[in-house]
Amino acid sequence: ALTPILNGLNIMITAGPTREAIDPVRYISNHSSGKMGFALAKAAQLLGAKVTLVAGPVSLPTPQNVVRHNVESAQEMLEVVHNDIAEQHIFIACAAVADYKLDNISEQKMKKQGDNLQLCLSQNPDILKSVAFLDKPPFTVGFAAETQDVESYAKSKLEKKKLNMIAANDVSNSDLGFNSDRNALIVLSKDSVISLEPKSKYLLALELLKLVKTEFNNR
Ligand code: C5P
Repeated sequence: ALTPILNGLNIMITAGPTREAIDPVRYISNHSSGKMGFALAKAAQLLGAKVTLVAGPVSLPTPQNVVRHNVESAQEMLEVVHNDIAEQHIFIACAAVADYKLDNISEQKMKKQGDNLQLCLSQNPDILKSVAFLDKPPFTVGFAAETQDVESYAKSKLEKKKLNMIAANDVSNSDLGFNSDRNALIVLSKDSVISLEPKSKYLLALELLKLVKTEFNNR
């Protein structure tokens, strides 16, 4: 049995991709499976936390006793997150939020129009940063998917977004990370770097949450 180290804590987790509509039948998205975020939600609940999962479009079952809100776009995810953020002790951003959204979503299905098509995009809000920059932010944990210089890029994200912790994974290794059932992480805080070796996303989630709890206590 698990020691309920997260008893009494409210934890919100974002997971999966977001979907940015182009018109009523098309969208821009990415290959995030949501597996790491859902594993975190399951593990946090089993460790005793009250878990709210804000999920983009994924086909995964809701872990037992987890409150799930389904969203599509980054804007929608931002709004759902901020609705409940004041009650959260810990916020873990695991979602692969689309960096850009359409400037204008066509109300009708777009027609084919010649050889080239240009779409105008602008940046989506940074959901994690918007939480970390609140006056009274919860303890914030980010994820960073990198293909090179994993630790230094993660360190700079930790600082720029004013996070308490960041978990970085090397997505150039196709056996791990995106869509895989296994992952490995480098977990950074202001003054520590800890490597979690490759294992199932559920076991990794349990280890990450132990580190989160320790940092949360020392904060
Ligand atoms: O800067 P980058 O997108 O690599 O940062 C990744 C981290 O920020 C992840 O924790 C991700 O969930 C979060 N994020 C977010 N909103 C965005 C972009 C990233 O919450 N628009």
